[in-house]
Amino acid sequence: MKHNFLIYSIAAFLFSGAALADDCQVEISANDVMQYSTDELSVPSSCKEVTVTLTHTGTAAKSAMGHNWVLAKSDDFQGVASDSMSAGLDNNYVPAGDARVLASTKVIGGGEKTSVTFSLEGLSSKQEYMFFCTFPGHWAMMKGTFKITG
Ligand code: CO
Repeated sequence: MKHNFLIYSIAAFLFSGAALADDCQVEISANDVMQYSTDELSVPSSCKEVTVTLTHTGTAAKSAMGHNWVLAKSDDFQGVASDSMSAGLDNNYVPAGDARVLASTKVIGGGEKTSVTFSLEGLSSKQEYMFFCTFPGHWAMMKGTFKITG
């Protein structure tokens, strides 16, 4: 009995550690009809770093139906979205050195996957954030809320 309890305790410890780390890794996908798989992502404020992985489940080329994942304060969403258009595909439709952009991935095409890792330092659970795709014309449909909980 003692032996079983010890094994159970170790297993529970390992599992809880893994679950905590997993909470800081979020996944989202995007398709050929200009849609993200979710309009809400959340991470606990205890995450030192967050990794967002974006998968393009479609087949379209990135020049035709490219997607990225960009994070900004909700108040900055419209400004970043409209300023991103002129940044061009070569710059992944993200204005260079724009402090309003809190995190961003590159633009990917069908069958591709990319990720971005960023710190939550300087971000607050009291602030509203949005994620969106800055490929021209996509942000109206491809957007969602990003929440920092706790
Ligand atoms: Co897109």
